[in-house]
Amino acid sequence: MNILVAGGAGYIGSHTVVELLSRGEQVVIVDNLSNSREHVIDRIERITGKRPGFVKADVRDTGKMNEVFAQYKFDAVIHLAGLKVVGESVEKPIVYYRNNLESTWVLVDLMSKYKVPSIIFSSSATVYGETDQVPINENAEYHCTNPYGNTKMINEIFLKDVVTACPDISAICLRYFNPIGAHESGQIGEDPLDIPNNLMPYITQVAIGKLERLSIFGDDYPTHDGTGVRDYIHVVDLAKGHLAALDYAEQNPDLGFLAVNLGTGKGYSVLDLVHTFSEVCGKSIPYQITARRPGDVATSYADPSKAKELFGWEAEFDLKRMCEDSWRWQKCCDKFI
Ligand code: NAD
Ligand code: WQD
Repeated sequence: MNILVAGGAGYIGSHTVVELLSRGEQVVIVDNLSNSREHVIDRIERITGKRPGFVKADVRDTGKMNEVFAQYKFDAVIHLAGLKVVGESVEKPIVYYRNNLESTWVLVDLMSKYKVPSIIFSSSATVYGETDQVPINENAEYHCTNPYGNTKMINEIFLKDVVTACPDISAICLRYFNPIGAHESGQIGEDPLDIPNNLMPYITQVAIGKLERLSIFGDDYPTHDGTGVRDYIHVVDLAKGHLAALDYAEQNPDLGFLAVNLGTGKGYSVLDLVHTFSEVCGKSIPYQITARRPGDVATSYADPSKAKELFGWEAEFDLKRMCEDSWRWQKCCDKFI
């Protein structure tokens, strides 16, 4: 297959491209490098022995994207090009809506023009927002609590409307839970350009000595140790989920619209993660308990059975392996440039 990976230089995208190339697919990445670096393309080549096509462009640049679609006959689009920082989305809703919505409009418009049959879209468990029902299955209602989540929800609704009007296009929205970990080579991983907002990159930067101590946001949640519980999933498992979704879309051209969770189905607390990481890296992780972070839920983990039933996909890597790979990446990330 010939696949366009929008946002393919980023964290999840680069791992997805590695899996695609390793399986023998052709890949063209379009990325504006707003949150990634060009050396990722070299690293992907070093890991797989194959160089993906790379176009540095904004997915919203209709003229440029028209050229890209005209040049390559794509069989599918994987759309990961989005801004993803919840707090920033509250401060800059216009930037987030423009980036995260216009990118999908442009891609779908060109898919229709060039008869590309399927799109796999990066959605998020964030669309479930506050819910007491765990594990969370795909029938749970939308309860977004911030502009970032709203952009994911609106994209899903938009794609539903598109496939209804254009039966030749199908859309699978993958609702990721909490991706962590990195490729086992230590060459690609999450590379926050700023102070990390998410738990795992914060922990790894404390372990390496870049940050002094972790703040744990609340220890009075109704969970086994009082700290928040999440469904952490290895990014390589997540990447493989995209290939499984692509195969399903190819075999089921009439699927229309699907929303599918990608998670492990297991919940771990902040302290579970801190302790497992600490064992793996052989250092203690200094932390302090601070106030709850506004908008955080106590517990969130997936019911991943739909992905297993439809795609035959399930996550394989455990929490220890996620920590080992995150730690290797943290130690290696600046060495390969
Ligand atoms: P990332 O920032 O590492 O990757 C996104 C990539 O898209 C970056 O390389 C960025 O430069 C590029 N990009 C952004 N806007 C673009 C545009 N308009 N044109 C071209 N390129 C553009 O983020 P990630 O963690 O790999 O996330 C990928 C997708 O998955 C995002 O849509 C994100 O919202 C979604 N998602 C991420 C998580 C997570 O925790 N990482 C969870 C759920 C969903
Ligand atoms: C995990 C747990 C925090 C940082 C976010 C987005 C979501 C999705 C995934 C894109 C929580 C606690 C965190 C810290 C802490 N992204 N924590 N100290 O909030 O579950 O999900 O990333 O779609 O939309 O909201 O992930 O890693 O930020 O937090 O105690 O410094 O760690 O309170 O319990 P979250 P996270």
